[in-house]
Amino acid sequence: MNILVLGSGGREHAFAWKIAQSPLCNALYVAPGNSGTANVATNVNIGVTDFEAIKELVLEKEIEMVVVGPEDPLVQGVHDFFLNDDAIKHVSVIGPQKVAAELEGSKEFAKEFLYRHNIPTAAYESFTAETVENGYAFLETLKAPYVLKADGLAAGKGVVILNDLDEAKAELKSMLVDAKFGQASTKVVIEEFLDGIELSCFVLTDGENYKILPTAKDYKRIGEGDTGLNTGGMGAVSPVPFATDEFLNKIEERIVKPTIEGFKKDKLPYVGFVFIGLIKVEGDDPKVIEYNVRMGDPETEVVLPRLKNDFVTVLQAMANGTLNEIEIEIDERAATTIMMVSGGYPEAYEKGKEITGLNTIEDSIPFHAGAQLKDGKVVTSGGRVMAITSYGETYQEAIKKSYQSIDKLNFDKMYYRKDIGFDL
Ligand code: AMP
Ligand code: GLY
Repeated sequence: MNILVLGSGGREHAFAWKIAQSPLCNALYVAPGNSGTANVATNVNIGVTDFEAIKELVLEKEIEMVVVGPEDPLVQGVHDFFLNDDAIKHVSVIGPQKVAAELEGSKEFAKEFLYRHNIPTAAYESFTAETVENGYAFLETLKAPYVLKADGLAAGKGVVILNDLDEAKAELKSMLVDAKFGQASTKVVIEEFLDGIELSCFVLTDGENYKILPTAKDYKRIGEGDTGLNTGGMGAVSPVPFATDEFLNKIEERIVKPTIEGFKKDKLPYVGFVFIGLIKVEGDDPKVIEYNVRMGDPETEVVLPRLKNDFVTVLQAMANGTLNEIEIEIDERAATTIMMVSGGYPEAYEKGKEITGLNTIEDSIPFHAGAQLKDGKVVTSGGRVMAITSYGETYQEAIKKSYQSIDKLNFDKMYYRKDIGFDL
């Protein structure tokens, strides 16, 4: 079959890399793609939310499956767009429909879902500009640190955690009254702070059945020792060493099962990936921090390399409602990835720097993220440039290989964290 992947990051390069290995894939397209996807697929310069252009491409290339990478097109209803058009409604779209994508599109929607289905999560209340005074009063009932979340999509910047009550009140005002995050902060969720260690759980569902993929842990802060500004992710490790069988069992029973049951009860049409952000709190109890309606990036760059199944077979089973017939097989080895970023990221940075040394890499898989081809050279085009993934018998061995590979790579003002896995 002919397949289209939407997106242009390391996650989409990992999708394309895995799909291209399948004998079931005839032609593979990525829109818009990057210099890495160009090695395994045909890039087409179309934006991920340009639905009309995507439709034209699908018809022209006789594409039968669309795998959606990022959340934006899902929250804007790309799956519904296909279902509502006779010319393309036969195409399988991997990703939830718009109502279900609200699990990521609205923090309040996600919290209401979690409460309705008795899934463990932090206590919360939500507020608007009209109820900002009630928000101040609610903050006074909580202990520091204070967790404030813009309700809508805010490019990963909408969560603010503060230690000081007055600062938290000022931040709440800035979000609600001064529209700090624009439309995204017309509502704000204030949450109880959960103390513990985080991990991510990835679930595939066809709306009826589910399968759990390996866990992963990502490193969100720019600086070593988990310090400094939040980023999209600076590295990842899979499996998560502290996720014992007993703990994984709790995640499945208390969180995954009621989540999938909740989709059915609430009539949320969901064919796709569920990314459950979790925190392990005292007493070894998992609680949900957030849902994302897509795979994580850079977690995909360590999770997919450990999946032994033919990926297209798995995607087809998701689309056809036959996931129960699939046995997920996982590589026993650990996989790790280290993200190389442009100096200055996540604030201002320069682009267009040539990346050298790529053809000398043997022991790792370089998944391209913010990198593009220009005059036959691979140059930087974003903050997160490339995720260097390696396998190992242990995660320590895998991390060592990734760092050895990075030593052979270079671009002007390249930066990466040298302590991925430090806390495990
Ligand atoms: P999110 O964008 O929802 O993933 O939140 C960003 C980060 O904020 C998470 O990865 C956590 O580190 C932190 N966070 C979010 N909610 C809480 C909470 N209730 N308690 C503690 N930390 C939180
Ligand atoms: N790495 C976190 C995310 O994809 O949201």
